[in-house]
Amino acid sequence: MRITMIGAGYVGLVSGACFADFGHVVTCVDSDPERVERLNRGEVPIFEPGLEEIVERNREEERLFFTSALPEAVGEADVVFIAVGTPSRRGDGRADLTYVYAAAEDVARHVSGYTVIVTKSTVPVGTGDAVERIVREAVADIDVSVVSNPEFLREGAAIEDFKRPDRIVIGVEDERAKTVMSEVYRPLFVNQAPVIFTGRRTAELTKYAANAFLATKITFINEIADLCERAGANVQEVARGIGLDNRIGSKFLHAGPGFGGSCFPKDTRALVETAREFESPCQIVESVVTVNEMRKTRMAQKVVRACGGTVSGKTVALLGLTFKPNTDDMRESPAIAIAEALVAAGATLNGHDPEGMEQAKKVLPAVNYADTAYACVEEADAVVLVTEWDAYRALDLKRIKDLVRVPIFVDLRNVYRRAEVERYGFTYVDVGRG
Ligand code: NAD
Ligand code: UGA
Repeated sequence: MRITMIGAGYVGLVSGACFADFGHVVTCVDSDPERVERLNRGEVPIFEPGLEEIVERNREEERLFFTSALPEAVGEADVVFIAVGTPSRRGDGRADLTYVYAAAEDVARHVSGYTVIVTKSTVPVGTGDAVERIVREAVADIDVSVVSNPEFLREGAAIEDFKRPDRIVIGVEDERAKTVMSEVYRPLFVNQAPVIFTGRRTAELTKYAANAFLATKITFINEIADLCERAGANVQEVARGIGLDNRIGSKFLHAGPGFGGSCFPKDTRALVETAREFESPCQIVESVVTVNEMRKTRMAQKVVRACGGTVSGKTVALLGLTFKPNTDDMRESPAIAIAEALVAAGATLNGHDPEGMEQAKKVLPAVNYADTAYACVEEADAVVLVTEWDAYRALDLKRIKDLVRVPIFVDLRNVYRRAEVERYGFTYVDVGRG
């Protein structure tokens, strides 16, 4: 099967490489020529564990190609996936579908023979209908089916999530497309991944419902964490106590500085807007958006409080800048809002991240970047653990104590136990543990 992937970002590149690994012949098209050049030199432009090996193997075996030339790549394809970005539209929070529509029109002009066009990007309900209109208006008598196949992978675990998904959701409107999509995912049927064939609109909405539900779960436990702090209870134990109930489940109940990333923030905002458009408001998700936004600055206030009420003229060391570990993605990372609020309060910031510093420098230019966690904490008035990278799970606390100016340790991910940090003379502040 010949697959063309439009967009070679986190989703397009991972999906393209994994489809190639299953034996399909895949061409990834990206409009960014520098990205394509790097990929053709064997460089993977994003940090995603395990991806480099898969890309290298499939390039060598001539199943994976990269190009900026869309016409040829689309002309040869049986299936064309659209995996371009759908960021928040500036000003109103709706999904910006400019890239999806531009790609759809481009694809329509170059398909040859029956082709299935699949939206893998996260798009609001009804976008498939709009894509169908665009392609049919672009080329009369075009022989295509338009399908929705949302992606549920997580950054940092993307390969595992793609190859062993909890489920695959495919929104189709005709049998011909269903047969082709079954062939695309056949290697995963063998792994017994549940495949849900449904209508296109249902598939589109399923994706937003999944992200919004997970974002709600996180926000819920974050509010319980705040309550635990006031009431002298322990949020980790509460999370365990509720999570062992199968109806609730233990995942996504880690309290922290609020969710970030390229998807939860923009997708919750977009769902709120979609719901308003359909005059069926999603009030729970509206609250989730508001509470999560406020939470990031409240985390900065937590640091200020830990520093005795002011950070003016003080140096704060931030450990971990990406929105979660095992990615270099800085999009909507809580570290950004926390850093900006601390700078506004007069702090000087040192920062370190195992993989994200190159990206971080673009969005947080005022931070002094250090090569190691230990260089980062030198002469600091407070150390703040923002992202729970493995590299920060067993820090040499004695060494840190000797390096800092003032021993204050704010653990926004509850990585450490109070007693083990306090033993070295730190003032220790965590999230929701009484
Ligand atoms: P990204 O920004 O990393 O990648 C998008 C790529 O598309 C970029 O490299 C860009 O140059 C390219 N592009 C844009 N327009 C193009 C065009 N017309 N032709 C060719 N290339 C074009 O985005 P991403 O994180 O991979 O997200 C893509 C979509 O997948 C979004 O809708 C997102 O919500 C969804 N999604 C993302 C994740 C994730 O973990 N990042 C997971 C599931 C779903
Ligand atoms: C998320 C979803 O998990 C994927 O299923 C989905 O495909 C993807 O969004 C998407 O649509 O792009 P991702 O953003 O990569 O994946 O990362 P998550 O692991 O979900 O974490 C998102 C944010 O929530 C991070 O900031 C993380 O620190 C935070 N989080 C997560 C918590 O604060 N607590 C938790 O218990 C879990």
